[in-house]
Formats: sequence, C-alpha cells, structure tokens
Amino acid sequence: MRTSQAAVTDEQRVWPDGEKTAAVLFDALSEAGASHVHVTGGDATAPEVPDADRTLAKLAIEHVDDDVAVIANGSLGNPENARTALVDGSDLITLGTGALANHDWPNRVRAGEPLDDLDPSIIFQPDASLSDAEVPGDD
Ligand SMILES: Cc1cc2nc3c(=O)[nH]c(=O)nc-3n(C[C@H](O)[C@H](O)[C@H](O)COP(=O)(O)O)c2cc1C
Repeated sequence: MRTSQAAVTDEQRVWPDGEKTAAVLFDALSEAGASHVHVTGGDATAPEVPDADRTLAKLAIEHVDDDVAVIANGSLGNPENARTALVDGSDLITLGTGALANHDWPNRVRAGEPLDDLDPSIIFQPDASLSDAEVPGDD
C-alpha cells in the first residue's frame, strides 16, 4: 500500500488531525494485512505531518506490526538523505527522479561518482505518435 498526504489533485494537501490521522491510517493498514507500507512526501527525512515531530516513515514504523515493511520515498536521490532514511528505520527506500536521471544510482553512489540531475525534457515531453503496429491495417 502506497500512501501520501499530497494528492495528484491537491499537492498541498495535508492530513486532517495530523498525527492522529497517521495513527489511524497506519494501524488500519497493518490490521488489514498490508505486507508493506510505502510512504511518500516531498522530503522523507523531514517531519511533514502537521504537529508531528517525526517523519512519515517514523510514524508508520511506530504503528505497523513488526512484520510490515516500511518503504520511504521523497528526495532520497541525495545519498545522505537515503542513508538517513535507512538509519532512521525504514526497511527500504525508493527513488523517483534520482533513478530516472541515474539508472545506475546504486553503483554510482557506491563508487562515489557524481550524480546527474534529471533533465525534465527527456521525461515529461508527451509523445503522441503511434507506431505502425498500433495503427489498424487493412488485413
Ligand atoms: C515521471 C514521473 C512519473 C511518476 N508517476 C507516478 C505514478 O504513476 N504513481 C505514483 O504514485 N507516483 C508517481 N511518481 C512519483 C514518484 O513515485 C515519487 O513519489 C516522486 O518522484 C518523489 O520521489 P523522488 O523525490 O525520489 O523523485 C512519478 C514521478 C515521476 C518523476
């Protein structure tokens, strides 16, 4: 189960009642049998839930059963942030833009090589052209 405060339709959305809402949500997901809870926000290393002093991942870790994996996402393409999220107890981290810009991110970080920034033009440009295979033929 992947969850976030922000929605595609409202990027500024935060959960009502902050930490109380997080507690209800994560308890319910765990009780419902989620194998993992994947939390995302703008910065996975910063508290983002109103009135909470812990990260979203920390709140999830506090509320889910021990056998539920917690996965953190959000600005973890920065290796220091990635390390912080793991040290803080997340079982896994995921990368969006960092992985799109650096398909070999783990190898680069391991080797101490520089990382590229994402060039949005290679990702966000829509391509509405159809290949020959997608165009119905006469036969
Ligand atoms: C090109 C692109 C497409 C994405 N598509 C989805 C999607 O379909 N569903 C989703 O939950 N998140 C989607 N995301 C959000 C990412 O999964 C991720 O949460 C976000 O990029 C923040 O992580 P980051 O800071 O590592 O980039 C997308 C992100 C990018 C850049």
